[in-house]
Amino acid sequence: MSAVISEHQVSKRISDPAYSKWVSKTFPALKGNIFLGSAGRGPMPITTVVAMEKLVKSWRMSITRDKTEDEITADFKKEASLLIGAQTNEVAFVPSTTFGINMFAGAVRWKKGDEIVICDVEYPANVFPWALAASLGGAKLVTVKSKDGIVDEKDIEKAITDKTRLVTLSHVQFGTGQKMQVDRVAEACEKHDAMLFLDSIQALGSMKFNVKRKNVAGMCAGGYKWMLGPVGSGILYISKDTATQMKPQCVSWTALDAEQRKEAWQKVVLGGDQSERRISLGKDISVFEAANECMVPEKGLTESVKFLRSLGLGNIEGRIHALNDHLLEQLDSKGFDVVTPRSRSRRAGITAFCGKKKFDSMDDEVQMLKELDNVKVAIRQGVFRTGVHFFNCKEDIDKAVSKLSKICQKRGLI
Ligand SMILES: Cc1ncc(COP(=O)(O)O)c(C=O)c1O
Repeated sequence: MSAVISEHQVSKRISDPAYSKWVSKTFPALKGNIFLGSAGRGPMPITTVVAMEKLVKSWRMSITRDKTEDEITADFKKEASLLIGAQTNEVAFVPSTTFGINMFAGAVRWKKGDEIVICDVEYPANVFPWALAASLGGAKLVTVKSKDGIVDEKDIEKAITDKTRLVTLSHVQFGTGQKMQVDRVAEACEKHDAMLFLDSIQALGSMKFNVKRKNVAGMCAGGYKWMLGPVGSGILYISKDTATQMKPQCVSWTALDAEQRKEAWQKVVLGGDQSERRISLGKDISVFEAANECMVPEKGLTESVKFLRSLGLGNIEGRIHALNDHLLEQLDSKGFDVVTPRSRSRRAGITAFCGKKKFDSMDDEVQMLKELDNVKVAIRQGVFRTGVHFFNCKEDIDKAVSKLSKICQKRGLI
């Protein structure tokens, strides 16, 4: 890790010129932008980009698989497991959240009549894989309805019964920014012996989180948002207990060690034992990884997670809260309606808000984003959405709100 990072800490002051200077050096991609878009795609720290470049450059002079690749995998598992409080054999490298959720959903031994509880505000990536698995495995989806886009955890608790096999939840909702009360849902799942699965792409990298403390069966998060990794990277977690009860629908030869391969070969190929299912769960959940996957995104995500951990996830979470407290004050003062729950325990990096009227056409959204120019905020479900990360500062928020309010005033929206 470069000296710059070890010398620096996340500033407790939301306006701090020395800190902002460090941010500009560390994230050159932010140059020229008021970037509040980490809920879409986060910028990569320069150390991550350099590490990936170095790996690609090494291929100029080398064609063979060398031990660097095993080291990258081991390093990834170490960093990813430390980030979420898991064991190294409980994490796998995946190219996206969608991929990881499909792997998990396809591997559950569903029984006819099983119920999968979902909410009506989930991102499609956390809906369609479960719908497919349900249709193939005889399970059915039970949908919890939100009110004004906000999900009441009590309604999720009510939907969980002895028929519930699994509850899937975004840790932080992509549209409203609502941070779900994972503890409460985990408790209800435990009472009914159901699994809890988390889509944590809008959470990991922006907060402290421990999968064991919350009793989570599975979790997946793409690396390209709050974790500041490259597209094509992500972390899949499956608890050891859950994994041993699964029937993966895929098998990766690299997930078996030499001894296991020999044994499986003996049984399946030479012994003709087609019922040998154990080949599909090898030494750990690497069975869900592509064999000989491209190492560049894996290296990149590992470097970014290392970087975030060196800064401290608690410090990052604290700064994000302080910045969003300021953002809420600013939005209130300009007359915007805030959609995101206000208490710190029910929000994280995302803040959603709107004027008197929601956007109801794509053309309108495109025009608004064009006018906002270098102010990078998103429009989701008809409302503005910001994703404020630890590298942002008070001035970013002030400039963004000032521009937003000018445009919205002109249009009679506030
Ligand atoms: C909550 C949530 N889940 C999943 C995704 C998509 O993840 P991926 O592209 O890694 O499959 C998004 C993207 O915005 C998201 O917000």
